[in-house]
Amino acid sequence: MTETDFQYVQELAARHAGIVLVRGKEYFVESRLGSIARSAGYGTLAEFIAQLRRVPVGTPHLQAVEALCTQETSFFRDFHPFELLRQSLLPDLLRKRAATRELRIWCGAAATGQEPYSLAILLREHFLQLAGWRVQILATDLSEATLRRARVGAYTQLEANRGLSAALLVKYFDQDGTQWLIKDDVRSMVEFRPLNLIGSWPTLPSMDLVLMRNVLIYFDTATRQDILRRLRQVLRPDGYLLLGSAETTLHLDGSYELIQHERVTCYSPAQVADPLADALNRLSGLSGQ
Ligand SMILES: C[S@@+](CC[C@H](N)C(=O)[O-])C[C@H]1O[C@@H](n2cnc3c(N)ncnc32)[C@H](O)[C@@H]1O
Repeated sequence: MTETDFQYVQELAARHAGIVLVRGKEYFVESRLGSIARSAGYGTLAEFIAQLRRVPVGTPHLQAVEALCTQETSFFRDFHPFELLRQSLLPDLLRKRAATRELRIWCGAAATGQEPYSLAILLREHFLQLAGWRVQILATDLSEATLRRARVGAYTQLEANRGLSAALLVKYFDQDGTQWLIKDDVRSMVEFRPLNLIGSWPTLPSMDLVLMRNVLIYFDTATRQDILRRLRQVLRPDGYLLLGSAETTLHLDGSYELIQHERVTCYSPAQVADPLADALNRLSGLSGQ
């Protein structure tokens, strides 16, 4: 692809998803956008991009941006964070919320649903005491197409094999031809909604646990800082944040405390030395949203 076309796509991805496409990613862009161009009836990628340039930003542009997002995910991805949740973070949150019997969890880049469904399965499997609690799992993503797949909750054998044991598979999924369909009682635990992390966020309830995994890596430093700052306002003071293994708040946002558990780092809002300064910070943050 030409340099000018690549620059156009770079700008589109940065403006609408915050995604940084560095030089050298031309091949990736060609392969992702090439298939969209072909299915939309364009002879070449250059023709498709020329058309995108001609018309005001609309559905085809956003579809192109979505195609540039990496949706790589799997059930119980990385294993250890889910062990930490099972052994430590969830029991701790259950103790802290015993009076209200409410638990709110947000998966901020849910992709095709494996991550929020893993959480729902974990809760079903190991926290029977949550029966009678109000448990909310909000799963959001930029990509509408991805969210449609997530809501259906149908996975190929290959996708199911990535992270699910045979026992969990038959317990929480129904076989439907060549696919495995998540059972209704697990599906209904998760609410899927579109949310662009770099846009303005709708009013969200305070969260006890946020999973924002494997998405910050695609953003530049200022965008990561902005998202971490806004997350801090959504996360309850005694709640937890989990990031991807290649992501951290370190050197980006000092208002998180790092808690190291063997192989996993999780984050919690740092204790505030000066509550008045903290309140003023939050207010200035809110006015900047
Ligand atoms: C690599 S997947 C991570 C999925 C899951 N969290 C995990 O760790 O397995 C990244 C997801 O981030 C989403 N994404 C990319 N940019 C986004 C943005 N600006 N706002 C919301 N979601 C975004 C993509 O659509 C994709 O589904």
